Amino acid sequence: MTTIGIHDIELATTHNVLPLADLAAARGVDPAKFEIGLGQSLMSVPAVDEDPVTMGATAAARLIERTGTEGIRSLLFATESGVDQSKSAGMFIHGLLGLPQAMRVAEIKQACYAGTVALQSALGVIARDPEAKVLVVMSDIAKYELAGSGEPTQGAGAVAMLISADPALVEIEPATGVYSADVDDFWRPNDSTTAVVDGALSLKAYLDALSGSWDDYQANGGHPIGEIDRFLYHQPFTKMARKGHRELAKHTGAELTEDVLEASFEYNRNLGNTYGASIYSGLISLLHHDDDLAGKRVGFYSYGSGSAGEFFTGVVRDDYREHLYREPIQSELAERNVITFDEYVELHENVLPSQADAETPRVTKAPFRFAGIKGGARQYEAN
Ligand code: CAA
Repeated sequence: MTTIGIHDIELATTHNVLPLADLAAARGVDPAKFEIGLGQSLMSVPAVDEDPVTMGATAAARLIERTGTEGIRSLLFATESGVDQSKSAGMFIHGLLGLPQAMRVAEIKQACYAGTVALQSALGVIARDPEAKVLVVMSDIAKYELAGSGEPTQGAGAVAMLISADPALVEIEPATGVYSADVDDFWRPNDSTTAVVDGALSLKAYLDALSGSWDDYQANGGHPIGEIDRFLYHQPFTKMARKGHRELAKHTGAELTEDVLEASFEYNRNLGNTYGASIYSGLISLLHHDDDLAGKRVGFYSYGSGSAGEFFTGVVRDDYREHLYREPIQSELAERNVITFDEYVELHENVLPSQADAETPRVTKAPFRFAGIKGGARQYEAN
């Protein structure tokens, strides 16, 4: 039987970073609340010439440099911080990377869950044509109002994955459990650059969708909990994964230890929330920091507010360690430009009008940048 899954994966983030200890000091909050209470240390902050397109293009370019484009006929871009109401952000990436014209390009939205919809769609494409490969890109900027409860859970990042038959990293297994419920826990109105959130309701909706999607996974041929070796949860902040794991233990009556989560936190605690990319940056972190994954089954819980959950599993390939590239993401994370609280506030408030022509200052050192607006249209260029 053909196995299908994640053949290659890359992560990219922003030029700037804000230490949460500095945010805590400015807001008069005990820094332990963010560091321990939320499990977050740093948050990525985009420069004026960065956005979900530039981060997504950077992650995708790193991946394509290794894999080439042969066989890739679909580019699925998942985001909830889209830059246009009509044109897919993936189309800008298609142009920046000079991808072949014989390609299907589209954007998918359902809050942080959209990346998983893109992944599952890619698996379906390849099930029909095992020669096909699909480039999946998830890229988001998590932005809440200044001084609001969501402020310390902001962040930014992008993941690119190549989905193919006979994958080098993780085979995704067929059984999956899905759950949807119309809930107003978190959303972003069309005319707002920041998300609106009901924090307490969002925690409840996340956990309800977890037990709901787990039950559906069991009803559809899923593995018993004892056969799952590692767990990856959507991580709006890393502590949320712990809450999810405790909920799953309670729901299933199983004894689950939290040490199996640790390796998946390394990147996200220093990126902040990357919305749709978050569970998959958790996956890269797990692959990069856990040397004992060969043949291990990983449970994935993907959540998107509004609300949607999906639980599925993947099995890590025996020789996965030979297909990992810890650079450039580890250097990129270490070398971000550390900004002050005042610089963060200025960047937060600096929102370019969406239709007035403007040029952006050259700041990012990333391979692609947002150059500004010309004739009302967004302009991107190689850096
Ligand atoms: N030392 C150590 N821990 C401390 C502390 C201190 N001095 N002070 C507080 N804490 C702990 C609290 O006990 C709490 O931990 P537990 O939840 O384990 O009890 C934690 O820090 C947070 O404290 P509060 O609950 O008081 O924090 P808050 O009211 O300011 O808000 C939040 C927390 C609701 C998560 C808020 O950050 C928020 O609204 N975030 C955005 C929404 C979000 O991320 N929701 C997650 C589910 S929805 C989702 O996943 C989709 C998505 O990506 C948005």
